[in-house]
Amino acid sequence: MPPRVLVPYDREIVESIQRVFGNEATAIQTGRDAESLLEHPDAVAIISGRVPREYILQASGLRMIQTFGAGVDRIDHDALLQRGDVVLCNAHLNAEEVAEYAISLLLALAKNLVVNDRTFRNGDWTYRYGGPRPNIELRGKTCLIIGLGHIGAQVARRLQSFDVTLKAATRSGTTRHHDLVSSVTKFTELKSFVREADFVILTLPLTKESRGLVDDRFISWMKPSTLLVNISRGPIVDEGALFTALKEQRIAGAALDVWWNYPQDRDDAPCWPSKFPFHELDNVIISPHRAAYSESIVKEQISFVAENVLRFLRGDTPHNIVDLQCGY
Ligand SMILES: NC(=O)c1ccc[n+]([C@@H]2O[C@H](COP(=O)([O-])OP(=O)(O)OC[C@H]3O[C@@H](n4cnc5c(N)ncnc54)[C@H](OP(=O)(O)O)[C@@H]3O)[C@@H](O)[C@H]2O)c1
Repeated sequence: MPPRVLVPYDREIVESIQRVFGNEATAIQTGRDAESLLEHPDAVAIISGRVPREYILQASGLRMIQTFGAGVDRIDHDALLQRGDVVLCNAHLNAEEVAEYAISLLLALAKNLVVNDRTFRNGDWTYRYGGPRPNIELRGKTCLIIGLGHIGAQVARRLQSFDVTLKAATRSGTTRHHDLVSSVTKFTELKSFVREADFVILTLPLTKESRGLVDDRFISWMKPSTLLVNISRGPIVDEGALFTALKEQRIAGAALDVWWNYPQDRDDAPCWPSKFPFHELDNVIISPHRAAYSESIVKEQISFVAENVLRFLRGDTPHNIVDLQCGY
């Protein structure tokens, strides 16, 4: 019997994955909760970005978890380390698309695009004659990219054409993308880099080390004119500290695609993404975590994840194995 692979997604996705599997594996549609998943204890792999801890600890046949996206923070790394016999792989396919979106958010903030649109829809021409907030030029400015991995590097590559001085911070304090930035620092030594930055873009994974990285202290290093873009994960930022700083205009603005609070499922009642009313602030652009959702990405992800699972099942080393100690 071909190995069984759990796919807790819509039928259409399960069928597309099965087409790539052919006769080599069977894709099984399941629910997302541990109970439904544990109905198939013999399944060798699961394709999902959200896997309950209980399932990881009890699924005796499980040997591989493959996610659709780049973030692996909703999978319990401690449970995987405890087991020691399950490989976790992510997908980095959406890096270019997410980079385009991060830059779109930066431009939208710098050029007041959202506030212009909102005001002009009321027939108000205030911003035609200048208005309170002149657009901010990108040229000549300094941008700090925190996390120079797949996405950060694509952001840097694209921002070069805006004549921006690019600096980066990484976990190690080094990078293989030296050609893209003028200097790089370790995330524990950020102070002078943050002080110089006109723009800060967060493109790092959420890990034990990065949680709360952008806190009161970090924000106190930012200039009142600095703009922050976050496309990584909400909890890397202290939501109260950011909200207060924006409200008091201690920093100029923020564009946020990622949040602290999410509905559990697509059909859940609407909910606010933070306990603070970011949506009431004029210097904030809010976006419902959709930086990676583009025309062709779902198709590309389906073939990548299915091929990567097959690679593993055939005994080859799969792509993008997550280092469970580092958390990404
Ligand atoms: N908004 C969205 O829709 C969306 C879509 C895709 C991804 N994301 C998020 O973006 C994150 C990054 O994705 P990616 O594909 O670029 O990941 P990646 O290729 O794994 O990039 C990791 C980069 O972050 C750095 N890093 C790790 N921990 C750090 C820390 N504590 N401080 C500073 N830098 C740190 C790493 O440093 P080293 O170079 O030293 O290893 C590396 O440069 C994902 O984990 C996910 O959460 C969001």
